Amino acid sequence: MFQVTDRVRTIEYAIRDVLVQAKQLERKGKKIIYLNIGDPIKFDFDTPNHIKQALTKAVKEGANWYAPSEGLPELREAICEKEKKVNQVEIQPEDVVVTQGLSEGIQMTMAAIVENGDEVLVPGPTYPPYLSHVKFFGGKPVAYETVEENGWQPNVNDLRSKITEKTRAIVVINPNNPCGALYREEVVKDIVDLAGEHNLLLISDEIYDRIVYTERFVSTSRIASDVPVVGLNGFSKTYLMTGWRLGYVYFHDGNGRLTELRGGVEKEARVRLSANTPVQKAGVAALRGSTDHISLMVEKLRKRRDYAWKRLNEIDGISCTKPEGAFYVFPRVEAVGSRWKTDAEFVYDLLEETGVLFVHGSGFEPTYGNGHFRSVVLPPIEILEAAFNLLEQFMSKHS
Ligand SMILES: Cc1ncc(COP(=O)(O)O)c(C=O)c1O
Repeated sequence: MFQVTDRVRTIEYAIRDVLVQAKQLERKGKKIIYLNIGDPIKFDFDTPNHIKQALTKAVKEGANWYAPSEGLPELREAICEKEKKVNQVEIQPEDVVVTQGLSEGIQMTMAAIVENGDEVLVPGPTYPPYLSHVKFFGGKPVAYETVEENGWQPNVNDLRSKITEKTRAIVVINPNNPCGALYREEVVKDIVDLAGEHNLLLISDEIYDRIVYTERFVSTSRIASDVPVVGLNGFSKTYLMTGWRLGYVYFHDGNGRLTELRGGVEKEARVRLSANTPVQKAGVAALRGSTDHISLMVEKLRKRRDYAWKRLNEIDGISCTKPEGAFYVFPRVEAVGSRWKTDAEFVYDLLEETGVLFVHGSGFEPTYGNGHFRSVVLPPIEILEAAFNLLEQFMSKHS
């Protein structure tokens, strides 16, 4: 038997780990309603035609070579144009590294900043790869509180209390997955000030920057004029390109403090050769072409979010804050800790009995995610209704 390393033993990804059990049940003939993965294409959303056409055109015209490791120059330029227009963030093409999905950007950034024993502050709950990649590189993710009763806004005092001499960076995910929180400008400003005070790097995941339902989103880099920010973003969600794997990392700092880090990430990019070339061409079309699909998508999602939020709050034993961005709900299950020992037990019992698949909240960070589950709000209302009816029956049977 070949053994795996401790490094690999520590990593997990609850959103896909729950699939193993669901697939087993499906093979035995159970109908599963998959509400675990944030992939709009699995429901009634599709990649806009002009983006598909740009991909096939690139392939037909022979753009099938390896791209430059940092990304195609025209894509890096288009990313700067987008960041300026949408988020009022000024960056130059040389500040951008194109990645195979934002996920690769997390991995590259953590690989470049985390030494053994270093701490990285992540929101609690968080998108799970931030936990896994920090651990993978020998570091310790430390969760700061985000407050459910306050729409899951970060608790800046808690964040401050968790800074130690080992802290290397603060991760911000805004709009947030799994909670759907849209951080208020003054909260982002407080986090930026704190990072400035303690000389910490900010890492800002803004993949849902254009999927918001209420106030406008404010980019961390727009506020952080004097604090270095590594911005992470991608094409999966807003441009409906999940399976195409395209994202980017950018380095935003007026004082040159990110030059070495940028060089390190560029080196990592060279080692893995390049992101997919024709997909990068399509990325240019996505950024420079029509973006009419975004408001249509957000309007459709708003109705589904409203429905899910209302319906879940009608179920005894479940309460849910209203998400202001992204496409998830993160409800609390009162009976976790009594009727169900853990939220994972709740999720697996529900799956076995009803076929409805959610992700347990503790998979997004055990302290602050515990006692919850995450559902996508992506499917048409009929599917959400069927799933939540089954959930309601399950809850009343087990109350
Ligand atoms: C907050 C957040 N960051 C990153 C990703 C992954 O993005 P990509 O598909 O670009 O790797 C997701 C996907 O769910 C996400 O929710």
